[in-house]
Amino acid sequence: MVSNITKTYSTSEIRALKAKYDKLLSEVNLHDRLYYRENNPRISDFEYDCLKSEVERLQEILAVYSVEIEDTAIGDDSNSGFQSFAHLSPMMSLSNTYSREELFQFSNHLGATLGPRKFSYVIEPKIDGIAINLIYKKGKIFRALTRGNGVVGDDVSANIKTIRDLPREIENYAEAIEIRGEVYMDKQTFIEINKTREEQGLELFANPRNLAAGTLKTLNIDEVAERDLKLITYAIGHCSEKIVNLQSEVLELLKNFGFASQEKYWLAEDIEGAWKCVEELNETRHIFPYWTDGAVLKVNELQLYGILGATAKSPRWAIAYKFAPERATTKIKNIVLQVGRTGIITPVADLESIQLSGTNVSRATLHNADEISKKDIRIGDYVTVEKAGEIIPAIVAVDSTKRNADSIPFIFPRTCPSCGSQLIQLPGEVAWRCQNLCCLPQIQRRLEHFVSRAAMDIDGLGTVIIEKLMAVKKLNNIADIYRLTFNDLECLEKFGTKSALKILSNIDGSKNRPLWRLLHGFGILGIGEQTAKILASHFHSLDNLIAATPEELEQLNGIGMKLSSAIVAFFREQHNGNTLNDLRMLGIIPGDRHLEISQNQNSKFYGKNFVLTGTLSSMTRQEAIEKIEHLGGNVANTISGRVNILIAGENCGSKLEKAQSLGLEIWNETDLLENLNGSVA
Ligand code: IVH
Repeated sequence: MVSNITKTYSTSEIRALKAKYDKLLSEVNLHDRLYYRENNPRISDFEYDCLKSEVERLQEILAVYSVEIEDTAIGDDSNSGFQSFAHLSPMMSLSNTYSREELFQFSNHLGATLGPRKFSYVIEPKIDGIAINLIYKKGKIFRALTRGNGVVGDDVSANIKTIRDLPREIENYAEAIEIRGEVYMDKQTFIEINKTREEQGLELFANPRNLAAGTLKTLNIDEVAERDLKLITYAIGHCSEKIVNLQSEVLELLKNFGFASQEKYWLAEDIEGAWKCVEELNETRHIFPYWTDGAVLKVNELQLYGILGATAKSPRWAIAYKFAPERATTKIKNIVLQVGRTGIITPVADLESIQLSGTNVSRATLHNADEISKKDIRIGDYVTVEKAGEIIPAIVAVDSTKRNADSIPFIFPRTCPSCGSQLIQLPGEVAWRCQNLCCLPQIQRRLEHFVSRAAMDIDGLGTVIIEKLMAVKKLNNIADIYRLTFNDLECLEKFGTKSALKILSNIDGSKNRPLWRLLHGFGILGIGEQTAKILASHFHSLDNLIAATPEELEQLNGIGMKLSSAIVAFFREQHNGNTLNDLRMLGIIPGDRHLEISQNQNSKFYGKNFVLTGTLSSMTRQEAIEKIEHLGGNVANTISGRVNILIAGENCGSKLEKAQSLGLEIWNETDLLENLNGSVA
């Protein structure tokens, strides 16, 4: 981005540089098309940025030698199927860098251009989403446009209106105002969608940015609503009135208008201070609900923007500093085939252990057979590993030059590695499945899912104990959990009386869980926590649900034909029917009184997300969760920006600090009790 041409080039060198430029430009154009139009990039952002900066370097050299070249355009995300309209003021892009040095050079340029004028910085998270331009007229939402080619964008108003926290009306400050921001999908939603797809044997979405972009460009509005897109705003484009003087005031104004705001932003007087904020963002961004791929540094004083101006593509008053993905090289020791709860066979690379973004990584999912053959991943290969979306270790490249001469491609088996049944691939699916419901790892995964925190929450009954109980035939299905005796548990190797009693008491405690937990625990294909909650609060009892027709089910929000058939098929299946009868006899099927989630929207709990930390003296953790859920609240395990309230009991640890750093509301036990008493279900 900053000119650095010191060398002199001969005519033949320039010719060679021009040829290289043309080649790289056509690559950039290809990747632009894949990224902006098809939402299906083939290379990582980091690789794309490196390619683009090399093109820009060549462009600069060729310009000095007056070579005529085709210019790189700003990425164009427009799609057919949508009407296009002009933005009131153009939507530019940001220049970006991965280098601290270039960030300081950016600051030097500002200083040189602005001379004696004083300026400061705002540092904001760079949200990895899709740019959106919201036009409000006389305070009412008028139109929502994608960036398109920067001058004209696609009208995605109908889709944008599915976003729950989009203010339909804002204070009527101006005849027309453009509010700019980012549409994104939060990490939790993305992970849940991919989890469901994995269970259904469908190809996984590569990252939340592409999924959000694809969703925003969908013509099926119900599909958009189901995907639960979110919005954060950070700028004002055209505005018929001058309303603020500072970027920090823009951010506050947008918050007052009712827009969801950035998790956090920082102010700094100089570039050293700004750099500290960038570093702080890099440390805290992992707990944000959205993916951030960098920091945006903006000059805070808006009146200086006119003086600083812009290049053809980006303003000179801002820059994006991007966080380079942390990568490491390691060797694949083995490729292990895991049998999942729904019979899907997932290949996993067993790696020579490495440190990546602060954790030890020794395994990486290879997703499916297609992924292995596409990347030609083999046992013994040296590979580059990166954490996709900051969390999940993924293999991004294979170094085939380091292969042994006797290396052979990995052959995905056609029989189940556990029970030997023939594997099948259903139409439209990439996954290979074992269809034998009695295949032991499948039974084990189903049991693990049933007792998990997200379902029946039976603490202590972990993977190892389940495996041991299965080996001695004490656990064959979920009903058996409620038949376990003290003797069954105590007989297990290295198992004490105290642990056995604790587990039995936890199993007993789980008999009163709300219906949605039981439904979720059944592991019906495609029924995650949210859908289980929708079903439970609509049908109130398991018997009502079992009696529901597909048509009745499809009336519910988020339930289409595929899910309704999965539900009906699950309850019709004879073995499942027998297990349900057993559960009934064992006193597990909850009656109506547990099921209803309060519809009292005035309750302090309704629709809010809570996290509990520390110990409570007046009730158990589980009792607190049930009370909150009964009043319409949700309880999560980890702190993120999606959380509204942290309930801090005695001896709480790092969650309290995180919540404080995010400015979340914090209740102590007395606050909780007062609010519970004040909330009528
Ligand atoms: S300000 C002139 N602030 O990043 C453009 N953009 O790579 C002014 N983005 O096109 C944009 N977070 O879509 C701004 N806090 C933030 C942002 C942000 C994400 C996006 C935006 C922009 C792209 C540039």
